[in-house]
Amino acid sequence: MKAVILAGGTGTRLKPLTYWTNKHLLPVGSYPMICYGVTKLRDAGIRDIVIVTGRSALGSFADVLGSGRDWGVSIAYKVQEEAGGIAQALDLARPLLLPKEKFVVLLGDNLFEESLQPYREHFERQPEGAMVLLKKVADPRRYGVPKIDPNSGVIQSIEEKPENPPSEYCVTGIYFYDTEVFTWINGIKPSRRGELEITDVNNAFAKEGKLHYKELTGWWTDAGTFESLEEAGKRLKGAIT
Ligand code: DAU
Repeated sequence: MKAVILAGGTGTRLKPLTYWTNKHLLPVGSYPMICYGVTKLRDAGIRDIVIVTGRSALGSFADVLGSGRDWGVSIAYKVQEEAGGIAQALDLARPLLLPKEKFVVLLGDNLFEESLQPYREHFERQPEGAMVLLKKVADPRRYGVPKIDPNSGVIQSIEEKPENPPSEYCVTGIYFYDTEVFTWINGIKPSRRGELEITDVNNAFAKEGKLHYKELTGWWTDAGTFESLEEAGKRLKGAIT
């Protein structure tokens, strides 16, 4: 299975730090943030990684990760010229993925404790559709929030940053897809903020009853705000092995 790490975007909530560098290169513990996603994927047996990032940061990503050789993986890069949304960034990786192949997508600012291996193995056995990882959070209104059908084990719908969250869970930025996802990306329109939203793509799977989920165990945070960046730094103090 291959992986795509999305590491573009503008990092608005981390300005002024992100005036001079890409969010995913900011220090977390002793490493640039991007290194944790790469090693999590490697440790789950995923060795082929596509990183999508913005033009200005590309050289710095290559400085940190190079071809991936020193990190035990193989890395290819794609440039997202403008931050057109998570789904638009994902679409750029399409030519580097094999038709019919299943893959995992990781938002580069998502940091977590648990190994991805059991989730990868579970998805490999899933006959079709997509799978997302959910986490119970204190304030779901900051995230995509699922409405869950506990009987069928599928998600009925997801609301992005809802005022009245339909559950206590958030959809983390860890998504498992097959290449059908690109058909759905082709079919969606930019949202009010002008982005192709991954939640719209996931809702297309949900409508077909094909959006499965698992609850992510261990701690999880996105590191997109000062508070969560600091939390991530505290949790990830040691050396990456
Ligand atoms: O962290 C989980 C949440 O991530 C989910 O619960 C939400 O459903 C999902 O929409 C997303 O919400 P955020 O508001 O946190 O997304 P953000 O714009 O911060 O982007 C998340 C990552 O995606 C970030 O690491 C960079 C990457 N990205 C984002 C955009 C908009 C790109 O690579 N290109 C882009 O154009």
